[in-house]
Amino acid sequence: MSLLITNGRIITATDDYVADVYCDNGAIAAIGKDLPSHRFQADKTIDASGKYVIPGGIDVHTHLNMPFGGATSADDFETGTIAAAFGGTTSIVDFAIQYRGQTMRHALDDWMKRGDGKAVIDYGFHMIVTELEDAGLGEMDRMVRDEGVTSFKLFMAYPGVFMVDDQTIFRALKRTGTNGGLVCMHAENGGVIDELVKEALRKGQTAPKYHALTRPSRAEGEATGRAIALSEMAGVPIYIVHLSAAEALEKVKQARDMGLPAYAETCPQYLFLSYDNYEEPGFEGSKYVMSPPLREKWHQDVLWKGLSKNDLQVISTDHCPFCMQEKALGKDDFSKIPNGAPGIETRLTLVHNGGVRSGRISLNRFVEVCSTTPARMFGLFPRKGTIAVGSDADIVIFDPDRKQTLGVRTLHMNVDYNPYEGTTVQGSPSAVICNGQVIIDGDKFVGKKGAGRFLRRGPSRAPAGL
Ligand code: URP
Ligand code: ZN
Ligand code: ZN
Repeated sequence: MSLLITNGRIITATDDYVADVYCDNGAIAAIGKDLPSHRFQADKTIDASGKYVIPGGIDVHTHLNMPFGGATSADDFETGTIAAAFGGTTSIVDFAIQYRGQTMRHALDDWMKRGDGKAVIDYGFHMIVTELEDAGLGEMDRMVRDEGVTSFKLFMAYPGVFMVDDQTIFRALKRTGTNGGLVCMHAENGGVIDELVKEALRKGQTAPKYHALTRPSRAEGEATGRAIALSEMAGVPIYIVHLSAAEALEKVKQARDMGLPAYAETCPQYLFLSYDNYEEPGFEGSKYVMSPPLREKWHQDVLWKGLSKNDLQVISTDHCPFCMQEKALGKDDFSKIPNGAPGIETRLTLVHNGGVRSGRISLNRFVEVCSTTPARMFGLFPRKGTIAVGSDADIVIFDPDRKQTLGVRTLHMNVDYNPYEGTTVQGSPSAVICNGQVIIDGDKFVGKKGAGRFLRRGPSRAPAGL
């Protein structure tokens, strides 16, 4: 299958020009002005005049088909990746979970089965590590070397479930110094939070808003600082996931100013939603129960500044949707509400509308934080994350004028609410191409279940200067 995209405005992290893109056999084969039709005959041609031609979005933080908090996230690898595709994302990195007493091998086999034959876009895995005995260190090496699972998520929160101690974190960090992996950290002080939760429940404070009130931003700042200090002592880089608060960003900024390789992602929910959402009537606040929680509105400006100054390098989604029936597990006790919210489909449109159109970040930066840097950080560049000859033909034809009203009826995620219900955004994908195949054509999904390929990623190392 060959495809010619004509006259689009090609935007990468660094470039902005009008040209044609010719794709053949799943890869970009030629880019040029007025490519001669006799040399570049294509099975299909898309006229992209007036539209942006951008590299497919890469979402490096999703939880599809994930058992968590007494429920399972509502999107599996079929529904979740179809929704991702509608939103202009052509690759994801999800999480396999090594539960206590189990091997990473077992975890990877389990999650490979969840993705295989279902995903419509390419997918890779980070490994969630919940214990790290001596044998586990060798397994980490094998994950990186043999399986292309080159990053590991560790938790400083969720005691009794995922939380590990500083010694385990330090061991994992040290090991990445020799095996080329990268530690991704959920940085919240789980011990402090646990005490605050117990205290709130003792006082009869059971409503969803107490989820946020028992997870103060200071607890995120403390854990972020500690995680970076541990990585400094281990002499390796660290990547902080779903950073939500000014206190945490300040720690990343201080480390980077000292020249330490500290990196962080934030997510659209922390840029567009706030603590006020927890004050919505009845049990509505449960829709926003996630960890870290939404913060007071002023944090948003700090995060945008962090993005524009490169103290934050990536925007991912932390897509982890639960239907209201599952959220209701915590009707009488906020600590039993499954943590997570939907977002895999709305990242590009929200960031374009609220970031680019409002002048907070440039178009190049939009591409950089949603595609290029995620690819670089997680061993996918230059195969993914850019528009260049030889790269995979993962391309979004993004119409800057196309309006979309976000909501359960218009979106495709398998969940019965949307945090942005009724919000109209300007700019959305009019076509999405994954591995040279058109998979979204206007409002229609035209891809194939199971066409997504497992991504064996390279070493997770940020380039110098990032
Ligand atoms: O609330 C969240 N973030 N749910 C997903 C699990 C995690 O910590 O990323
Ligand atoms: Zn997390
Ligand atoms: Zn997550």
